[in-house]
Amino acid sequence: QLGGEASGLMADLQIFDQLDSTNARVLSNLEDGGGHGLVVLAEQQTAGRGRRGRSWASPFASGISISIGWRFSGGVQLLEGLSLAVGVAVARALARFEVPDVRLKWPNDVWCRGRKLAGVLLELSGDLTDRCAVVIGIGLNMRLPAAAADAIDQPWIDLAAVRPGISRNALVAAMLDELLPLLAAYPGGGFADWRESWLALDQFAGAEVCVHSGQQRWCGIGRGVDRSGALLLDVDGERRSFHGGEVSLRPA
Ligand code: ATP
Ligand code: BTN
Repeated sequence: QLGGEASGLMADLQIFDQLDSTNARVLSNLEDGGGHGLVVLAEQQTAGRGRRGRSWASPFASGISISIGWRFSGGVQLLEGLSLAVGVAVARALARFEVPDVRLKWPNDVWCRGRKLAGVLLELSGDLTDRCAVVIGIGLNMRLPAAAADAIDQPWIDLAAVRPGISRNALVAAMLDELLPLLAAYPGGGFADWRESWLALDQFAGAEVCVHSGQQRWCGIGRGVDRSGALLLDVDGERRSFHGGEVSLRPA
C-alpha cells in the first residue's frame, strides 16, 4: 500500500518481470470491476503501446513502464487535459532529481534537450457517461539499449545521457508522490489548475510547428494551450485550437 490512510490515497503495487503492456493489464482489471488505485510496473514490455496503435520500446530494464488505474466520478469530458497534467507531474518528479532541460510537448510527451524522454498514454474503459475508468500509462527511458533505439523513428533520449545514477525506485516513488494527489484532486478543478505549470514547460511556445491529421496539415506558431488543454496555434494570423484525439504535433 502506498500513500497511507492519513492522506486518503491508497494504491496497490504490482511488479512484473514481463508483461505485454502494463496498460493492458490495468485495463483488464478495470473491465473486471476492480483496478482503482492499482499500480502496475513491468521490467519489460513485449507490446508496449503508444497512441493510435504505435509501439513504445521498453526492453528489459531500459526504464520505467508504469500504469495506474483510476475511477473518476463524472463523465469523460472531465478528463480532457488529464494527459497534459500527468506530464506536469512527471516533470515535477524529474525536477526532484535535478534532471535538466525538461519540457512538455503537447499532448502527451515529456522531452529533454529537444528529444523524447517519456510518453503518457491514457486509455478509457467502460461506460463513460457518469463514472469513467481510466488507465494512466507512462513510459520513461533510463538506459535504452542501442538495438531497441534503432527501431525508434524520432529523436529520443534517456536519463543515462543527461543525469546518470538516479535510482529507479526513488524516481517511481517520486512519480507516484506527484501523481496520486493529482488524480485525487483532478475532478475538482480539471486542467485549469495545471495550465500555468504546463505553459511554463511548453517546448514549442513561440516556435514554428505543424499539426497533422491524416492528409491535412496546419502550420503556425505555438501559443500554448487553452483551459481545456486544447493546443493553440496562430495559423496565418488567426488563432486556432486543436484537440488531442485528432492530431499530432511536429516541429515545422
Ligand atoms: P503524437 O504527437 O501523435 O503523440 P508520437 O510520435 O509522440 O506522436 P505516440 O503514439 O505518442 O506518438 O508515441 C509512439 C512513438 O514514440 C513511436 O511511434 C516512436 O516514434 C516513439 N517511441 C517509441 N518508443 C520510444 C521510446 N522508448 N523512447 C522515445 N520514443 C519512443
Ligand atoms: C507515447 O507514445 O508517447 C506514450 C507511450 C506510453 C508508454 C507507456 S509504458 C507503460 C504503459 N504501457 C503501455 O503499453 N504504454 C504505456
